Amino acid sequence: MFVAYCIYMFPEIERILVSREQIADRVQAMAKEIVRDLQEDLAKDGQTPLDEDNVIIVPIMTGAMIFVADLVRELPMKLSLGLVAVSSYPGESVRSKGAHFATELPDNLGGKHIIVLDDILDSGQTLALVKEMIEKQNPASLRLGVMLDKKTDRTVDVHVDYVGFEIPDEFVVGYGLDYNGYYRNYPQIAVLDQSALPSR
Ligand code: IMP
Ligand code: MG
Repeated sequence: MFVAYCIYMFPEIERILVSREQIADRVQAMAKEIVRDLQEDLAKDGQTPLDEDNVIIVPIMTGAMIFVADLVRELPMKLSLGLVAVSSYPGESVRSKGAHFATELPDNLGGKHIIVLDDILDSGQTLALVKEMIEKQNPASLRLGVMLDKKTDRTVDVHVDYVGFEIPDEFVVGYGLDYNGYYRNYPQIAVLDQSALPSR
């Protein structure tokens, strides 16, 4: 039933790279890694996951929205969300056009433990930009996580602490990732039929 619905609703999907089940398992495992690291950080300062005002998750909108919605529900601790929007793939682009902030970064990150989460690491520009700007606020700790790490030439070298899956250098959609604003609600990570993309 689910497969038939997907074929009907999303005829341009050519291939599934990461299934719903694989995503769900990996998100749980990533959440465990994050909780472990944050607990260690908090313990160093004599704090516990029950204490307020320590942990802020920064999702990079819009792509990280579905990943973060799933992940934060696996983090049993006191935390808040501080959204930021970064744009680099306007409209029908399938290559980065250079990252820039589309909203202002939250200004309350100083002294807090920050986890920045994005859907995918591609050229590296988005995460490098967000990291640089957050560092200026002097957080207590700063870690980066992505659902997908695209194996491509980075224009910026950026270290990511948590990676869901490594994928080949292909343009993907689904689970938050879009092409021209669409397919974010496709529940798996998939490749579009070439005919649905502009010729490169
Ligand atoms: P970077 O700045 O090149 O690392 O790109 C990261 C951003 O580009 C992500 O936040 C995504 O929004 C977008 N992006 C990169 N690759 C893809 C893709 O294959 N499909 C959809 N969006 C992508
Ligand atoms: Mg993005």
